[in-house]
Amino acid sequence: MKYIKIGNNIENASAIALGCMRIHALDNAQVENLIMTALDNGINFFDHADIYGKGKSEELFGEFMANHKDLRDKMIIQTKCAIRPGYYDFSKEHIIESVETSLKRMNLDYIDVLLLHRPDTLMEPEEVGEAFEELYKSGKVKNFGVSNHNMMQIELLKTGVNVPLVINQLQLSIVNAGMITSGINVNMENKESVMHDGFLLEYSRLKNMTIQAWSPFRYGKAGVFLDNPDYPELNAEIDRLAEKYGVKNTAIAAAWILRHPAKIQVIAGTTNKERLSDICKATDVDLTRQEWYSIYRSAGHHLP
Ligand SMILES: NC(=O)c1ccc[n+]([C@@H]2O[C@H](COP(=O)([O-])OP(=O)(O)OC[C@H]3O[C@@H](n4cnc5c(N)ncnc54)[C@H](OP(=O)(O)O)[C@@H]3O)[C@@H](O)[C@H]2O)c1
Repeated sequence: MKYIKIGNNIENASAIALGCMRIHALDNAQVENLIMTALDNGINFFDHADIYGKGKSEELFGEFMANHKDLRDKMIIQTKCAIRPGYYDFSKEHIIESVETSLKRMNLDYIDVLLLHRPDTLMEPEEVGEAFEELYKSGKVKNFGVSNHNMMQIELLKTGVNVPLVINQLQLSIVNAGMITSGINVNMENKESVMHDGFLLEYSRLKNMTIQAWSPFRYGKAGVFLDNPDYPELNAEIDRLAEKYGVKNTAIAAAWILRHPAKIQVIAGTTNKERLSDICKATDVDLTRQEWYSIYRSAGHHLP
């Protein structure tokens, strides 16, 4: 496992994190096995949200934490708030209430990182700032960030939020690489040059914000691009490199994200412990520049 620095307070976060969105479908023993496998592989970062499994994911994780109090200070635990049924809610009241609920469910005294899950267009930056300050001063939340935010929304938040925003969690994979593609197709008239979300990659690097890549293997609603007949060239190239580096195809797909110098952390959402161990081998792979571009091109992305 490799470790990265996040902001100024988190010195050693594993480059691969365990996303806990899907663990609500597991039983206690399976959750225990999965978390132990993560820890055995050097993963110390765990991603949650108040809404995963309608709270069940945090609850199951909390049952693990209740039985393993000794592990707490070895773990970096992140959760998110602000998605409510039919709306987004950056009100002070909701942010604080959501954190209190997450703390109870997960059997924790503090959360290492709190993210605002999706931008609330009705946000009042000062109100978010008050909520964050209260949570920080009470020791209930140590660090803050956002998810699915563009750069101007982050700048807007910063007008009222005084604590550093150190993470932006965004969808990113070989096949879902808009933030990379728009930066490659500069000064062009093709559709790839359309910048949907602003200069997310460059902004994050300039502002020392860690990008967390969610759904690093997903393709379409229910599938993954690995071993998928929709991507024959990509899979041939990934399989060739998997053989070269002696790892599984999942590790190459994760290594492609880790190779980017933008401090990207991979949030793997598997509930399968063998797969998780395979993915962790990604940190042993250092793709060359040519290999990185070759994977990118074989996914159907073109260089201008
Ligand atoms: N901020 C946001 O808006 C947002 C949105 C979505 C997710 N997230 C976070 O990101 C994490 C990861 O998201 P995700 O679960 O969609 O991402 P993922 O890791 O790309 O996908 C994992 C899913 O794909 C399945 N899968 C099937 N074949 C696979 C293969 N060969 N390799 C890897 N996975 C395979 C897994 O099944 P098995 O379990 O059987 O392996 C699992 O259901 C979530 O847990 C959550 O923490 C954040």
